[in-house]
Amino acid sequence: MAIKNSSSFNLSAAPSAFLAQLLIISVTVLVLIWVLHFREGIAFNSQNKFKIFNLHPLFMAVGFLLIAGEAIMTYKILPAGNRKLQKGGHLLLHLIALICGILGIYVVFKFNNETSGKHLYTFHSWIGLSSVALFGFQWILGFFSFWWPRAEMGARARLAPWHVFFGIVIFLIVVLSVETGLVEIFTILVLTRSQEALIVNFIGVLVLLFAVSVGLTVILPRSYNY
Ligand code: HEM
Ligand code: HEM
Repeated sequence: MAIKNSSSFNLSAAPSAFLAQLLIISVTVLVLIWVLHFREGIAFNSQNKFKIFNLHPLFMAVGFLLIAGEAIMTYKILPAGNRKLQKGGHLLLHLIALICGILGIYVVFKFNNETSGKHLYTFHSWIGLSSVALFGFQWILGFFSFWWPRAEMGARARLAPWHVFFGIVIFLIVVLSVETGLVEIFTILVLTRSQEALIVNFIGVLVLLFAVSVGLTVILPRSYNY
C-alpha cells in the first residue's frame, strides 16, 4: 500500500519504523514501572484484587497495542525478498496481540466480578470490547483470504486495499481504547501533580506518537530512490 510516485513523501519507512521500536521499548518500560512500582504489582489470583486489575493495562497497552503495531510493520521491517516470512510474521504477531487482547478483557471482567463492580458502563469499555471483536474478525478474514485456503489472485488483489484500510481503522480504535483507559484510571485514582500522574500521562503521549509512527510506516515505501 506504500505510496511511491511523483507525490511521494521522499522518505523511506525506515526512520519511522525505527522510531516505533524506540517507542515500543519506552512504553513497555513505563507501563512496567507504573504497575510494578507505583501500583500493587500483578497477579492472576490474589486477595489484593488490584493486582488482577493491573494485568489489564499491561495486556492491553503492551500485549495488544504494541504487538499489533509491530505486526502491521512487518511488511516494512522483515526482508523484502521473503514474502512468506513477512506474511507469517504479520499473521503470528497479530495472533499474539489478539490473545493478549482477549486475556486483557478476561482479567478486567474477573476484577469487576471479584470486587462486585459493574460491567460495561463506560465509553472506554464499549469501544475497548468492540476493538477486540473487530480485531478478531479482521484476523479471521485475513487468515482465510491471504493465508489458507487463500482467495484466488484477482480476489486477493481486490481485498488487499480494504484489508489495509480496515486494519488501520481497527488499529486506531485500539489506540483510542488505550488512551480512554488511561484517562479513566487517571480520574478513578484522582491523580493530581505527582510522579505517577506524569508517568500515566507520558504513556498516553508516547502511545499517540507510536500510532503516528506506525501510520507513517504503512504509508511510506520500504525504500526510496532519489
Ligand atoms: C485496547 C486497550 C483496552 C481495551 C480493549 C480495554 C477494554 C476494557 C473493557 C471491555 C472494560 C470493561 C470491563 C467490564 O465491564 O467488566 C474495561 C474496563 C476498564 N479499563 Fe480498559 N481496556 C483497554 C485499555 C485500558 C488501559 C490502558 C487502561 C489503563 C489503566 C484501562 C483501564 C480500565 C479501567 C479503569 C476499567 C474499569 C472501568 C470501566 O469498566 O470502564 N483500560 N476495559
Ligand atoms: C487483526 C489482524 C490484522 C490487521 C489489523 C492487519 C492489518 C494490516 C495492515 C495495516 C496492512 C498494511 C501494511 C503495509 O502496507 O505496510 C496489512 C497488510 C497485509 N496483511 Fe494484514 N492485518 C491483519 C491480519 C492479517 C492476516 C491474518 C493475514 C493473513 C496472512 C494478513 C495478510 C496481509 C497481507 C497479505 C497484507 C499485504 C497486502 C498488500 O498487498 O498490500 N493480515 N495488514
